Amino acid sequence: MCFYRIVVICLLGSLVPSIAASKVCGPEKHCVPYEQCNEGLMVDGKFYPDRSRTTLDENCHYMEKCCNIPDKLPTPKIPEEMMSCPCGGRHDLWYYLRPLGYKQQEAKFGEFPWLVAVYGSDTYLCSGALITPLAVITTAHCVQNSEMEKVRLLAGEWDAAVELEPQPHQQRSVVETLVHPNYTQMPLAHNIAILLVDKEKPFQLAPNVQPICLPPPRIMYNYSQCYVSGWQRSDFGRAAILPKRWTLYVLPPDQCRTKLRLSLLGRRHAHNDSLLCAGGDKGDFVCGDVDMTAVPLMCPLSGHDDRFHLAGLLTRTARCDGPQLLGIYTNVKLYRQWIDLKLRERNLDIRHYMV
Ligand SMILES: *[C@@H]1O[C@H](CO)[C@@H](O)[C@H](O)[C@H]1NC(C)=O
Ligand SMILES: *[C@@H]1O[C@H](CO)[C@@H](O)[C@H](O)[C@H]1NC(C)=O
Ligand SMILES: *[C@@H]1O[C@H](CO)[C@@H](O)[C@H](O)[C@H]1NC(C)=O
Repeated sequence: MCFYRIVVICLLGSLVPSIAASKVCGPEKHCVPYEQCNEGLMVDGKFYPDRSRTTLDENCHYMEKCCNIPDKLPTPKIPEEMMSCPCGGRHDLWYYLRPLGYKQQEAKFGEFPWLVAVYGSDTYLCSGALITPLAVITTAHCVQNSEMEKVRLLAGEWDAAVELEPQPHQQRSVVETLVHPNYTQMPLAHNIAILLVDKEKPFQLAPNVQPICLPPPRIMYNYSQCYVSGWQRSDFGRAAILPKRWTLYVLPPDQCRTKLRLSLLGRRHAHNDSLLCAGGDKGDFVCGDVDMTAVPLMCPLSGHDDRFHLAGLLTRTARCDGPQLLGIYTNVKLYRQWIDLKLRERNLDIRHYMV
C-alpha cells in the first residue's frame, strides 16, 4: 500500500469559507463534502471526518455532511508526495468513500485509481485501465466503431452521476487509437487496444489517478485473489453510478483450455494462450450486462497484497448458467511487447507501468 500522512492543512487555513454555492440544509447549516466539515476526530494528527448521518444530513447528497456554516473548512490541499505511488499501488484507506447502503459490491473511491471510464460522443462505452499518464488500455471491441475524435477518457471518476468526490475526475480526449493488428471478431481474438491522449495534456497523477502495472510476458503470478472492477452500463441514468467490484480467481491454462473446449462459447474463440479464464461466484455484476465492457482484471503482485497488475480485460461475458462463473479475458501479458513497442515508437515513457 502506498501510505501517506494526512497533513491537515485545512485546519490551519481560513475558517471563513465561501458558501456561495452550498445548499441550505438547516438553520445556519449547509451541505458540504465530509472533508470540508470540521466535525470529526483528530487521531495522530490525522483528521477523520464524521461520516455518520443524521436526519439533517439526509437533506444533502450522500457524499456531503450538513455542516454548521462556521465549521466549514477550505478544500484540503494535498501535499505533493501524495500525488504518486509505484504502479498498481493505491493510497491509504482514508480516502475510501462508500455509498449509502454499501454492499461490498461497489468499488470505494480511489480503490482502483487506474480505472478509466471510456465515453463515446455522449454515452458510456466501457472501462479501461490507465498505464501511463498518456495511455489507457481497453478492448478493441469497445472502440472499434467509435469515431476517435469523439472518444473521451475520464480518470479518477467514481460516482458518474455527480461531481462531489473529494478529488475531481479528469477528462481527456483521445488523439490516437491503436487497435491490435491481429484483432478479429470471429473468432474473438487479440481483443486489445491502446488509447493515447495528447502529450501536452497528460493525466495528472493524484490520489484517485494512478497507473496500474503491466505484467512482464513471462510472469507467473498468484492468481487466487484477483478483482474485476468497472461501471455497469445499466446503472447509467440512476441516482448513483458507481463502479462495481468482484473477486475472482484465474484458472490455470490447462483447465482454461478444457473449459473453453467444452463450452459452446469457447469454440467460437481462438482458444489458446491469448485468453485467460476466470472463475468465481456468480453475481449481478459479472453476470449482468457487462458483456464486452472491457472491465480490467487485476491480480496482486507477488509479495504485495495491495499492488496490482493488469492481468486481463473482459472479452466475453461469463457463463453464468452453471454453479460457477466462467469469464473469458484477453491475457494482457502476451501483449506486453506490443504495448512497449507502440509506446516506445512514440517516445512515451514506459517506466510508469514497469515493476
Ligand atoms: C500478427 O500475426 C502475424 C501472423 O501470425 C504475426 O507474425 C505478427 O507478429 C502478429 N502481430 C503482432 C503485433 O503480434
Ligand atoms: C496464493 O495466495 C493465496 C492467498 O493469499 C495463498 O493461500 C496461496 O498459497 C498462494 N499460492 C501460491 C502458489 O503462492
Ligand atoms: C491461437 O492464436 C493464433 C494467433 O496468435 C491464431 O492464429 C490461432 O488460430 C489460435 N489457435 C487456436 C487453436 O485457435
